[in-house]
Formats: sequence, C-alpha cells, structure tokens
Amino acid sequence: MSSASFTPRVFSGIQPSGDLHLGNYLGALKRFADAQNQGIEAVYCMVDMHAITVWQNPEDLRRSTRELCAGFIASGIDPEKSILINQSQVPEHAQLAWVFNCVARIGWMNRMTQFKDKAGKNAEKASLGLYAYPSLMAADILVYHATHVPVGEDQKQHLELTRDIAAKFNHDYGVDFFPITEPVIEGTATRVMSLRDGSKKMSKSDPSDMSRINMTDDADTIAKKIRKAKTDPEPLPDTVDALKDRPEARNLVNIYAALDNCTQADVLATYGGKQFGTFKPALADLAVARMSPITQEMARLMDDPAEIDRILALGAVRAREITTPILRQTYDIIGMVGPAV
Ligand code: AMP
Ligand code: TRP
Repeated sequence: MSSASFTPRVFSGIQPSGDLHLGNYLGALKRFADAQNQGIEAVYCMVDMHAITVWQNPEDLRRSTRELCAGFIASGIDPEKSILINQSQVPEHAQLAWVFNCVARIGWMNRMTQFKDKAGKNAEKASLGLYAYPSLMAADILVYHATHVPVGEDQKQHLELTRDIAAKFNHDYGVDFFPITEPVIEGTATRVMSLRDGSKKMSKSDPSDMSRINMTDDADTIAKKIRKAKTDPEPLPDTVDALKDRPEARNLVNIYAALDNCTQADVLATYGGKQFGTFKPALADLAVARMSPITQEMARLMDDPAEIDRILALGAVRAREITTPILRQTYDIIGMVGPAV
C-alpha cells in the first residue's frame, strides 16, 4: 500500500520554542511559501504540545507560538490558502496520538535517536511525553491523511516511525485507511550553517548570538553579523567544487544563492576571484533587502496579538473539518461506539 490513492496533502510542524533564525526561514518557511502556489492543500502547525515535552515557561510559550505564527505569515504563508494552526486547538491530534500509543511498540520507541539525544544520561528523569513524542508526531500527520511531509534530516527517523504506525494500524485492522507518508527531506543545499563555524548548523541553541541571523534582528544587526562572519583569507573560487573544503565560504555563498533564488555557480560567476571585502557587503545588502520586509512584517503582526489569535482560531475551525471525520472513522474502525459514520 502506498499513499498513491490518497489526495495529496502537505503537513509540517515547527516547535514554538525560541527565536526563529535565517536557517528556519531558508530551510523551512520560505520553502513552504514557495510550495504554496502548487495547488496542494497544506497544513502548517505550531506544535505547542510537542514543545511542553520539555519545560516551557507559559508566557514564553504564548509569545513563541504567536511569533512563529507571525513568522509563517511574514514569510509568505497565506492563512487563507494554507491552514495555519497551533496543535492544542485541534484536539484530534492528541486523541489520535493515544490510539497510536497503543499501536506503536515500546521496542520501536526505544530506537528513537532524538529521544536518546534529548534525554541524555538522565532518561529516568525525562518526561513520559518526550518518550511518546514521535507517536504524537505521527498523529499530527495522519489525522490529516497527509501524504507529504517536508522536514529536516533529523526528523527522518520519526517519519519512518509514522509509516510503521500507519502500516501496522492498516494491517491489524485489515484496512487501507492511513496513507504511507512520503518524507520530503530538506537537502544540504538549504542547510544554513553557523556564521561562526561552517561545520555546525545555524541553531537557536547556539550560545553565540553572532552565529545566527534572527528573524527579529534589525537591518544594522543583520549587516553587522554578516560583516563579522568567520571566513578564510582566500578570495572566492570560480567553481562550486573548490568550495568543498571551505565550509565558511561555502556557507556564505549558499546563503547568497538561497536569498537570491539562484545557484551557487551563479553567485561564483559574479564573485569568483573577489575578496570577502567585496562579497560580504554585497551579501549584507542582499540579506537586509530580503529579510527586512519580513522582520518588519513580523514586528507589525506581533503588535496585534489578538489578530494572530483570530487567525489561529480560524485555522483550527478549518483543520477540524478534516480531522473530526478522520478521527471518528478511526474510532469506528477500532470498535469504539459513537455516532454513525
Ligand atoms: P528547529 O528550529 O530545529 O525546530 O527547526 C524548525 C525547521 O527549520 C525545520 O524544518 C528545520 O529543518 C529547519 N531548520 C532549522 N535550522 C536550520 C538550518 N540551520 N538550516 C536549514 N534549515 C533549518
Ligand atoms: N518533530 C518536529 C521537529 O522537532 C516538529 C513536528 C511535530 C513535525 N509534528 C510534526 C514536523 C509533524 C513534521 C510533521 O522539528
């Protein structure tokens, strides 16, 4: 069985736990916005229930959820075209997750490397939610019968688990009810690395703020961070191949290409042979030109949190038109008594 017989539907989720940065924009938000005009229905979710698997200060969670919603919209996700939701307002996610807790095997969960990484040596003290997290993620996806899930490489194992859960459910109950979802893994081309160390991903957890461009940084800060980005003493090469052992140079060229919607070869056609003294100011100008309208729009949206809350409430109503019947049918397949389907 494959997802071929299901109507294509995209689902992806991002945790509202900390500030958004250029990596989130180029690796996720911009890609989502670019895909929006392909005519495939898409659901984008702020996974607040995943966020609380580790401690979240309530005020921070509220702010991060709204900020993430503002980030989606400012990046070009149209809440009329796509469905924008926060997970906790669509209760069918958690309801289906319980069913999946009873489908997934403990042995499967024990193999999840992200749990091992996050729980570390102190696994006994980790929350039960952190352990069950991938089963909720499977429910996020399958409660929409989503067929395509764009995510980063680190989520590949969770998507394989989602396929295993769907297949076991279908097999155990003798149905072809849940699609076997296709991962759409983000390639290395869209991976943005730290501005201080080209071998590390740009990340909200990096202690140095100079390592990343935040989506809340103003134009001067963006320009300063690019001017101070780590580089090597050589001029830029003429070929993409020659960037292989120059992670910092490669990262800056990659960022330029992604912001300008062109290839690395195109960037080198213009800047090959030039020094960073020439390239960095050009990149700073481009980054400011592309990011400033987005950061300003985010700030504008954040000035009116009630409007964001209205958008999320409307998203939840639209989402539940999809999730309510799918959950009801799931319950019916299982043998739970309820209204006829
Ligand atoms: P995270 O901030 O790790 O929760 O990731 C949220 C989304 O942004 C995921 O789709 C990631 O794949 C993407 N993402 C996070 N960091 C980067 C990065 N440095 N480069 C590209 N994409 C990223
Ligand atoms: N686990 C994902 C992450 O940490 C977020 C997420 C939750 C997600 N549910 C999802 C991503 C469903 C894609 C589909 O990045």
